[in-house]
Parts: sequence; structure tokens; C-alpha cells
Amino acid sequence: MYQTILTELAEGILTITINRPDKLNALNRIVIEELAEVIGTVYDNPEVKGAILTGAGSKSFVAGADISEFLELDGYGGMELAKKGQDMVFSRIEHSSKPILAAVNGFALGGGCELAMACHFRLASDNARFGQPEVNLGLVPGYGGTQRLTQLVGKGKAMELMMTGAMLNASEALQLGLVNHVTTAEELMPKTRTILQSIITKAPIAIAKVIELTNLAAIGDPNGLTKEIHAFGELFNTTDAKEGAKAFLEKRPAVFTGN
Ligand code: COA
Repeated sequence: MYQTILTELAEGILTITINRPDKLNALNRIVIEELAEVIGTVYDNPEVKGAILTGAGSKSFVAGADISEFLELDGYGGMELAKKGQDMVFSRIEHSSKPILAAVNGFALGGGCELAMACHFRLASDNARFGQPEVNLGLVPGYGGTQRLTQLVGKGKAMELMMTGAMLNASEALQLGLVNHVTTAEELMPKTRTILQSIITKAPIAIAKVIELTNLAAIGDPNGLTKEIHAFGELFNTTDAKEGAKAFLEKRPAVFTGN
């Protein structure tokens, strides 16, 4: 169905694997278009409750935007590439009401690090490497790196990483809060699935609100606390909130329906 992406839907989880291992899964125009399409599926298919993004092979998650497409670009083309990617893929991942996790299985450089950072949170295998090496090409990150890296690791460390283009290993990324867990290569997908499986048993509207409100905090929205008050109130009108409290009082697991 896709040229550059593999998808598998099992137990409500859509696993999306970027599949250009001979090019370390670099993001060319086709990958971006196909990712946009598959994110549409995450949004629209009611059978999909959450998604995992990963890369094919054992070496790379995504080694960045496809540099072979850069020589032909002028200023307008570069801006269009960044805007299209951000609008169609990166921002839509970040604002998805369904949880999307990154399972980083190797190099996550440039657009790859940005793709992982657009996800709601990240797990990494112990051979993962993170970096924003765009300055080596005379560029800056274009898929949200300057903003999301700063949100995740703080201004000083983000400046250093983007100015030096240096790579972080998995334990450094863990220490900085860029990833939440580090596993062996074998354990990466099972552990990511276990966490996502647990998340998708919760009330979907509550999960959607957590994503929305936490995204507001990350951009320093001055109305974040007020919006939290409203969301807290709105959720009391949902069937799932009634079910959650009832199930607790009846000492049984809650059965949420997304209503
Ligand atoms: N765009 C296009 N092709 C890429 C790529 C990218 N971002 N990253 C890797 N590739 C290709 C290589 O050109 C090579 O293709 P070839 O076999 O046809 O020559 C193949 O993937 C394997 O990469 P290679 O460089 O041989 O692997 P390596 O193990 O020696 O080095 C990296 C791995 C990740 C350190 C190195 O590939 C690299 O620095 N990539 C670019 C990272 C980058 O700058 N990303 C930001 C882009 S904005």
C-alpha cells in the first residue's frame, strides 16, 4: 500500500515503520507524503487507539531529511519543504488526540530527532543516537527542532546540541529527559507496546485532554491553568468519568467507551 512505510494494526495499536533501511530511513518527499497519509489514518480510523513510530533495520530510526533532495532547493523550496512537513506530519503528530510514541531504534538525527520529538514521548534502544547536525550542512533544523528540543532539554543544552551538531548516546538522552526509557534493541518494541497498551485502556477523552493541555504548557500558554479548569469540568460531563468513579467505588476495573 505504501512505498516507504510499513504499517501493522494489532490490538488497537498501529505500528508505523519507516522503511528505507539502505538510506537509514531518511525522510524524502515520498516518506513525508506517506507519513501524512498514515497520520490521517491514526486520526480517522476508530480501530486505531494509538500508534508507534519506528524505523526499519537495526541501525537507524531516521537519519534526517534526505540530503540528496537539498541541492535543487532554493529559498522558497526550502521554506515549502519545512512548512509542508511541519503542517502535514510533525504538528499533526504532536496534536493527535490519540497517543503516538516513538521507538527510537538507532540514529535519530536532524529530521529523525525532530520526528521523535514530535511524538508524545520516546523510548530508545541502547544503540540510539540523537542529534541536530544541520549546522554541518549550513542549515538549521526545519521540522521543529529549535522549538521542541528547547522545550525538552532546556535552552543551554539545546543551544549546545544545535551549535555543535554533536550526537548524544541513549543514556545521555535519558539523563536529559529527551527519552523516557532505554532498553535493549530486542526489548524496545515490546516495552513500547506495553506502555501504549496501558495508555489505551484509559478514557480516550481524558488522554486527549492530557495531550492538549500538556502541549499548551510546553509552549508556555499563559491560559494553560484556566484551560485545565475548563477541561476538568467538561470531563465530568462524560460517561467515562462517571464510569471511572463508579468502577473505583465498586472495586472493579473501569470499562471506558470514549464517550
Ligand atoms: N539523507 C540521504 N541519505 C542518507 C542520509 C540522509 N540524511 N543519511 C544517510 N544516508 C545514506 C548514505 O548516503 C548512504 O547511502 P549510500 O549507501 O547510497 O551511499 C546510506 O544512507 C548509509 O549511510 P552511511 O553514511 O554510509 O552510514 P554510516 O554508518 O557511515 O554513517 C551517519 C551514518 C548517520 C553518521 C551518516 O549517514 C550521516 O551523517 N547521515 C546524515 C545525517 C544528517 O546530517 N542528517 C540531517 C539532515 S538535515
